[in-house]
Amino acid sequence: MDKQLINTVNKLQDAFASSGLSAQPIDLPQIAVVGSQSSGKSSVLENIVGRDFLPRGTGIVTRRPLVLQLINRPAGPKPSEDDAAKQEGSQPTSDKASNPDEWAEFLHRPGEKFYDFNKVREEIVADTELKTGKNAGISPVPIGLRIFSPNVLTLTLVDLPGLTRVPVGDQPRDIETQIRNMLLKFIQKPNSIILAVTAANTDLANSDGLKLAREVDPEGLRTIGVLTKVDLMDQGTDVVDILAGRIIPLRLGYVPVVNRGQRDIDMKRPIAAALEHEKQFFENHPSYRSKASYCGTPYLTRRLNTILMHHIKATLPDIKQKISQNLAKYEAELASLGGPQGGTDGSSVILGIITEFCGEFRTAIDGSSSDLALNE
Ligand code: GDP
Ligand code: NA
Ligand code: MG
Repeated sequence: MDKQLINTVNKLQDAFASSGLSAQPIDLPQIAVVGSQSSGKSSVLENIVGRDFLPRGTGIVTRRPLVLQLINRPAGPKPSEDDAAKQEGSQPTSDKASNPDEWAEFLHRPGEKFYDFNKVREEIVADTELKTGKNAGISPVPIGLRIFSPNVLTLTLVDLPGLTRVPVGDQPRDIETQIRNMLLKFIQKPNSIILAVTAANTDLANSDGLKLAREVDPEGLRTIGVLTKVDLMDQGTDVVDILAGRIIPLRLGYVPVVNRGQRDIDMKRPIAAALEHEKQFFENHPSYRSKASYCGTPYLTRRLNTILMHHIKATLPDIKQKISQNLAKYEAELASLGGPQGGTDGSSVILGIITEFCGEFRTAIDGSSSDLALNE
């Protein structure tokens, strides 16, 4: 039920992204990741997805927003050899890690399925360079990526460049302002959920992510704190006071995680091994042992899904009203162009998309639990 609802929201997002509409008429809920450069944002996202596919590392690696839709899809029958061969970019035989039930698709490469997640990373790097050059430049133009898998919870996440102060390479002198504005564009939407990432071995009071989040969400109603690099803290120190809300309280709280270090990345340590290492770390650490079930990536993922569901349910009436308004607007536009037989004009295409998705949306709403309390 809930999954269907999020799927419909994801489809709407797609329809608007590909409809050629200049402005997104509906702000749909999504989870945006903010924090300092190299705080571990891309690593957190990768762990949530459970696949290696994002460029990560020291320095400015993420240079364009990446809108990432995770779509839970039950494992199906194996695709025939023919099907697999038809898909460019899929080489299941040459990649031992590939799985016929898990693949990725880019919005800018419609119809192409990527089964090899190394190829996904290469495509992100290539398309980033296409828009920004090779020398650390940035661009606000998002990359759209969907990952279909039986092993993910249905969520939409946005990976963003990290906050930085000193320009390097081809970066403009006002790089700090440019990145801030890019991040604000994503997180100021009242229906975005902010994943504020802070490295645990830095001072929480100086957290760029939390500071930025606070500007748009002063009461901390839609900000969840993620503490990375807990494994790199000095002996005898821990994040227990932060978790207990004694430092900077957040309504949605904090989740501590342990991602792979640079050495693990260089040695290509598999993600499954990293998640097991994370589990062992929290279960065996004297400070976290008693609360290990509230620590780590799997807990973070469940929290995010719950938060997203509550959020979507709370914003549904508003989204529904906006869809109706847009529908009326496009119908009027269409009528002025001579009705639905108007032919090849772009508006009729948009109207078609919107009509279709309104239908699906309604089905999803009607099919979901009664606590939605939508007024017809
Ligand atoms: P981003 O710039 O915020 O996206 O950060 P990345 O995910 O690219 O990570 C930056 C660097 O920090 C990489 O070398 C990661 O391996 C490392 N890193 C991230 N999280 C952790 C962590 O929890 N523990 C350790 N030891 N290293 C981490
Ligand atoms: Na980085
Ligand atoms: Mg990154």
